[in-house]
Amino acid sequence: MGFFVEEVPKPDKIEHSSDIETNIDNIPEKPTTDNLNKNKGLDVGTMNLVSSSLENNNDINIKNIRNVFIEIDKDSISNMDLSQINNVEIDDVVYIIGDDAYRFANMFNIPVSRPMSKGMISTENIDSADILAVMVRELIGQNEDLQNKPKCVYSIPANPIDGEMNVIYHQNVFARIINSLGYEAVPLNEATAIILSECSNTNFSGIGISFGAGMTNVALVYKSIPVITFSIARGGDWIDLNTANSLGMIPNKINAVKEKKDFSLTNFPTGKKKERRIKEGLIYYYNNLINYTLKNILTELEKSEAELPEELPLVISGGTSLANGFIDLVKEQINQIDEFPFDILEIRTAENQLTAVAQGCLVQALK
Ligand SMILES: Nc1ncnc2c1ncn2[C@@H]1O[C@H](COP(=O)(O)OP(=O)(O)OP(=O)(O)O)[C@@H](O)[C@H]1O
Ligand SMILES: [Mg+2]
Repeated sequence: MGFFVEEVPKPDKIEHSSDIETNIDNIPEKPTTDNLNKNKGLDVGTMNLVSSSLENNNDINIKNIRNVFIEIDKDSISNMDLSQINNVEIDDVVYIIGDDAYRFANMFNIPVSRPMSKGMISTENIDSADILAVMVRELIGQNEDLQNKPKCVYSIPANPIDGEMNVIYHQNVFARIINSLGYEAVPLNEATAIILSECSNTNFSGIGISFGAGMTNVALVYKSIPVITFSIARGGDWIDLNTANSLGMIPNKINAVKEKKDFSLTNFPTGKKKERRIKEGLIYYYNNLINYTLKNILTELEKSEAELPEELPLVISGGTSLANGFIDLVKEQINQIDEFPFDILEIRTAENQLTAVAQGCLVQALK
């Protein structure tokens, strides 16, 4: 496929995002060439962009950046020194991007914007794709050796069963961005990546569910091959928005309570009255999201003519599944279903629910 290649604008200063050292068992034992070492995995998420690369035989390096920006009026910052802030100027508009945008917004109490919505490039801002290009460049860097292009496997959602969006534009824009950085861009279904990262013990077979910010992605994978994939246009943002609407509050306020360590989906809500109401609302919408996802899995399985394996593990990942008690709710709801067309070997969360997709992309990139 021929993509047109456009230069990615350089941010004034490229800051190192958080580097997390981690280990995974299913990375092939010895990369054979230098080029293989430069291969990257990239999880393109509505709230978080996460990259993974191989450091040496067993360690992988994970970087992440918050997928947000704020637009600044150029005149109002003429005296400001932005050299320490991650920013980019596109057509006379200055954007502060990533984690700096988040900090800036909190400091000055202004809302952040998102270049993606419901799993795909947002239609809200004409510069969304260019802003994303700068963030991707920050994570994977520019490969200068064009004779020897490393692979960058990047995650894409499946088309939503309950939304209008089509993934084609999103997938192609990211291919263009990644190719322009000197990589060979290879798309991989997001939920399939979870199975590649977490299921070496079942020969890369299982059902993966990624409960993200913008979407929930599901894949039934047999021996690395995605057999059924679909997405639902509901995730953490949907929980925040609907709880907020039910209580007449703003989603940010709900989000802050949702991510608190003391919030639990299985314990009676505690705290002051307002907080108890928020927690109660969150529990209803969490239950609804899980129920809706499981129902849709059953419907898609019924529709499928594929011959299904007798037993498969179910692996849950994504930031939305970090809430205390999430896995218990999933187990409870699955126990109430008696017509699953195969046995569920086990129900577990990914080892790291925020990095599993990026790790699965790297597993694919190193194949
Ligand atoms: N501790 C927590 N408890 C509950 N929810 C959390 C927690 N931490 C993060 N989240 C939620 O997880 C979501 C982000 O998850 P994730 O990074 O997996 O999404 P994403 O990959 O960026 O989005 P998508 O895959 O939908 O495009 C947000 O809705 C955030 O509020
Ligand atoms: Mg995701």
